[in-house]
Amino acid sequence: MIQQANTRSLPEARAAGLARRSSLKRFIWGGIGVIALAVVGTGSFFAAYPQRAPASLDRTIEDWTGQNPHPIKLLLPRDRPLSALAQLGEHIFNDPALSASGRQSCASCHSPDHSYGPPDGRSVELGGPTMTSEGIRTPPTLGYLYRQDPFGIGPTAAENDAPPPLDQLAQQAQGSAHVAKTAGGSAAAAAAALVPRGGLFWDGRSDTLMDQAGGPMTNPAEMANKNMYDVAAKLARAPYRDQFKPLFGAQILNNPAMLFVEAMSALSAYQIESPSFHRFSSKYDYWLEGKARFSPAEMRGLRLFNDPSKGNCAGCHLSQPSPDGLPPLFTDTEYEALGVPRNRTLQANRDPNFHDMGICGPLRTDMAKQTQYCGMFLTPTLRNTAKRGVYFHNGIYHTLKQVLEFYDYRDVQPGRIYPRDAHGKIVKYNDLPVRYQANIDTADQPFDRKIGDKPALTDAEMDDIIAFIGTLSDGYRPSHL
Ligand code: HEC
Ligand code: HEC
Repeated sequence: MIQQANTRSLPEARAAGLARRSSLKRFIWGGIGVIALAVVGTGSFFAAYPQRAPASLDRTIEDWTGQNPHPIKLLLPRDRPLSALAQLGEHIFNDPALSASGRQSCASCHSPDHSYGPPDGRSVELGGPTMTSEGIRTPPTLGYLYRQDPFGIGPTAAENDAPPPLDQLAQQAQGSAHVAKTAGGSAAAAAAALVPRGGLFWDGRSDTLMDQAGGPMTNPAEMANKNMYDVAAKLARAPYRDQFKPLFGAQILNNPAMLFVEAMSALSAYQIESPSFHRFSSKYDYWLEGKARFSPAEMRGLRLFNDPSKGNCAGCHLSQPSPDGLPPLFTDTEYEALGVPRNRTLQANRDPNFHDMGICGPLRTDMAKQTQYCGMFLTPTLRNTAKRGVYFHNGIYHTLKQVLEFYDYRDVQPGRIYPRDAHGKIVKYNDLPVRYQANIDTADQPFDRKIGDKPALTDAEMDDIIAFIGTLSDGYRPSHL
């Protein structure tokens, strides 16, 4: 080559040099083109098939596409027509004639149009014979209870083993240390630490939907029937009474005790069978399956929700599907004492000596002596919570921003959360007697901070988490991606 060039005349050599340079240029540009194509090509390939991308690219893909880099197939409850028992349950659920006032059904406080939560932003709903009695707690959603285990302490007992009595377990638990709940941490570790879990109501006092349903029927502040005979008499006159006969025999209407029990089982069947109680049609469900894109705020919110050093929300409000694809319910179904402030608008709280202490009473009575559980309430699901107008067991808050501020400021700026006494001193944990305040969670992030520390979340980060919680509401319609 060199020799050849040397033998050439000057113009020839210049021409050859020019040709070589332009072919070099072409080569370089060609190379850049190929690389660019490859980048764009791979990018759009991973955008279309995010599950094929290497794990190290997850974050980039999330940021670029808003998609789940590892979509999965969720294992959803099968859609089946309601059984005759469940159809009967639907009538009972919606029948105001079963209440003393004649104006209140289950649906009045658990509104089907509000994901079976309260229909308005009241802290507690009114009930009773004249619809003027006030309870002490806010109605939880009835959604997503279909997998709720009975109340227990510590690990779930094997199928055939009768679990030891609760008070014995509770005694044992007294010496056991608090196991920190971090997002992504081991639920098994928490279970082994003998923490209370499962059950229905804010204090777990009812084990099954069937047991539970009798409660509101005879609760004086709710449907206010005198007793089950009172309910049975109303059922025997109901327009749907004939639907009991093919299921339980013609004699059922003359047997009040049986009629009441079967009505409760119908209510339970309705709540378990009807897909309306567990729709799994939120944007997050579609996102998990790779059928929806998150906005940048929703994506940041999901990360903050899961990050053990930021929100750590997923430490208790579980956000991951199970390994076999069961969708997350956003609760670990365990109990915690968060030290939620006293709601001074409740009638019961006009008495300074009245305290709703959850598991240890007053509505629940069997655990009154287990004072290590005073102040503990069930962790609720966060599915559809964005649509509620009222939050926490006593309905103290009415917006998600207030809830987020509670988590963020409780320990670092308690003056923003709790009132001050006559001497100007902040009364922290003002809804639990001082002797039980050691039960309050001060270990789990974001509650592990001291006064004056930097809050775990900035204002913008709280808004991002709220944007993410918005993706947990059912009824999202995925447009094509
Ligand atoms: C006056 C309002 C009101 C009416 C009427 C009412 N409930 Fe409730 N419901 C509540 C409140 C308040 C709670 C929480 C009570 C507690 O924790 O002590 C609750 C709790 C529940 C729970 C437990 C949910 C959970 O997450 O643990 C179920 C299930 C339930 N109600 C079903 C029903 C059924 C079925 C009916 C009709 C027979 C009914 N409710 C009527 C207010 C009401
Ligand atoms: C240590 C466990 C734990 C952690 C961590 C936690 N929560 Fe909760 N959450 C609970 C419990 C328990 C309650 C009910 C407390 C009560 O009413 O007394 C609750 C209630 C709520 C409610 C009210 C729902 C309703 O139906 O009333 C919202 C909203 C909520 N949490 C959001 C969050 C967010 C957002 C985070 C993260 C910043 C978070 N939680 C972190 C345990 C936890």
